[in-house]
Amino acid sequence: MTELSPVTEATATKAPAPKKLAVPDTQTVTSVQHWTDRLFSFRVTRPASLRFRSGEFVMIGLMQTDEKTGKEKPLLRAYSIASPSWDEELEFYSIKVQDGPLTSRLQHIQPGDEIILRPKPVGTLVHDALLPGKRLWLFATGTGIAPFASLLRDPQTYEDYEEVILTHTCREVGELQYGKELIDQIRTDELLAELMGEGFHEKLRYYPTTTREESPKMGRITDLMRCGECFEDLGVPELSPETDRAMVCGNLAFNLEIKEMLEGYGLEEGANSDPKQYVVEKAFLD
Ligand code: A2P
Repeated sequence: MTELSPVTEATATKAPAPKKLAVPDTQTVTSVQHWTDRLFSFRVTRPASLRFRSGEFVMIGLMQTDEKTGKEKPLLRAYSIASPSWDEELEFYSIKVQDGPLTSRLQHIQPGDEIILRPKPVGTLVHDALLPGKRLWLFATGTGIAPFASLLRDPQTYEDYEEVILTHTCREVGELQYGKELIDQIRTDELLAELMGEGFHEKLRYYPTTTREESPKMGRITDLMRCGECFEDLGVPELSPETDRAMVCGNLAFNLEIKEMLEGYGLEEGANSDPKQYVVEKAFLD
């Protein structure tokens, strides 16, 4: 798919553009945080014209030299926007793959650096793709928490549901830290609380689990649901198509497994054009 980018003011001028302005759609990195040797998050400036729905993703990346032609060309990957739609900057949460074409380089970005960001948000993890319901489940593994970091800071999430449950399964405890700090921020930030509306604190539930390092709750979320432990812990019944809605974002094997389970509970997959009871998106991997 080729994308035509809007001509920016800088590239529209007649004077020869300096090299860094030859690339359309650049944004400036404002902060970078490394969470583990496999995970980092970063914030960039937001194009003034960019509107998106919480949960959507955009293509971001860096320039790279084409080995055959020697020409510079963009190397782009899909990244969920982790920040809410009202935020003046954009936040992303990424894995670091040491030999990954993009993340092996992206992990070294510093404030002031430029990245490419195509301002065309899309995605299915949006409220519009779900029918009204009582309880919203957000099922994430690894960096799949990113779109939910956006949705959990969106007031609409709490307006639309009586209960919002985030489950996050990671291999190790350190990989839960981004999510833990996100939930802490949502629970303690007074400005955020004001924005979210009354009673949202009681609606938000958080269920982190690890699979390869000891933590208070161990096991894959799929196994914990199958044996009923997850529902017992949370004090809620198994999912039902009448009351429950779900959004899923994780690795491919997880997505497929939980999709089958959700279908087993009687939920059907929705889309922007055909809202139903659950939606799925694959977390970005380099
Ligand atoms: P596990 O350690 O048992 O493989 P990854 O870092 O590989 O993307 O995995 C993130 C988390 O998702 C890990 O805790 C992993 O558990 C879990 N996971 C992987 N596949 C599945 C699956 N099919 N169902 C549930 N959880 C899964």
